[in-house]
Amino acid sequence: MSEKRLIVTGASSGIGEAVARQAVARGWRVLAVARRAERLEALAAETGCEVFAADLTDEASVAALAEAAAAFRPTGLVQVAGGAKGAAELAETTIDDWRWMFEANVIGTKRVIDAVLPLLRASTAAPSADGSASYAEVMVVTSIAATVSYKGGSGYNAAKSAEKQLVDVLRLELAGEPIRVMEVAPGMVHTEEFSLVRFGGDREKADAVYDDVQDPLSADDVARVMTDILALPGHVSVDETIIKPVAQTHPWVVTKGELRAKR
Ligand SMILES: NC(=O)c1ccc[n+]([C@@H]2O[C@H](COP(=O)([O-])OP(=O)(O)OC[C@H]3O[C@@H](n4cnc5c(N)ncnc54)[C@H](OP(=O)(O)O)[C@@H]3O)[C@@H](O)[C@H]2O)c1
Repeated sequence: MSEKRLIVTGASSGIGEAVARQAVARGWRVLAVARRAERLEALAAETGCEVFAADLTDEASVAALAEAAAAFRPTGLVQVAGGAKGAAELAETTIDDWRWMFEANVIGTKRVIDAVLPLLRASTAAPSADGSASYAEVMVVTSIAATVSYKGGSGYNAAKSAEKQLVDVLRLELAGEPIRVMEVAPGMVHTEEFSLVRFGGDREKADAVYDDVQDPLSADDVARVMTDILALPGHVSVDETIIKPVAQTHPWVVTKGELRAKR
């Protein structure tokens, strides 16, 4: 097997940061990417990963990332960067929020794949140390919102389903190449910033999402599943993974209070 070298986006907080930490702990090389350089530098100081500050919605920024990525020689891309803005009913949502969500989740994913795919293809040409075939990998974090719509979800549902379609098309188009394309769709994850970003910095609204929910997923829970999948042999493609906390039976059915067995 060849050395695993992952570009992890969204690595300045939440799921992406947890993936970067766990990947380094598993002995893999990581190039951590997000916009906030100071948070990336702190992660680098702590874990020894490499970092590059880039805005995936910005063409020049992604062009610069492509250069840094070429020097890093990735075998995999873990695209986590993204998020939600707003939870109002469709008629009350703003075009600006929709544009942000499509830029961050869809166009950003397209841009980073454009930048990294040639490098992933090149990585598969290198013979692996043990003589086995070399595989590359693309893993993209979408959401259960990609397939199940919910009231207040309009723009996020639309953006995440577009991102999911992009991933499915990429898998089809890479048929015949030694590159696995995998989607991870989490449900409710209590990360530091996801709901804070969604509610424009309103801490009270953000905290209310997880209030009284028994054990929402943590970023570490999701990262553990993701790195377990990434640790599988390269020919094993876990195409789609849905991860929810037990308290979230369905995107619309979140139990508040303690979970108890029926008598
Ligand atoms: N938390 C949940 O309940 C949940 C559920 C399902 C799916 N997801 C998805 O999981 C992913 C990570 O979510 P999270 O909970 O970890 O949220 P988070 O803590 O807000 O992390 C989002 C990450 O994306 C980065 N990012 C955002 N816009 C970017 C841009 N234009 N360019 C580069 N990096 C950008 C942010 O870094 P900077 O601000 O430093 O750029 C941050 O590192 C997202 O795609 C989200 O939609 C989350």
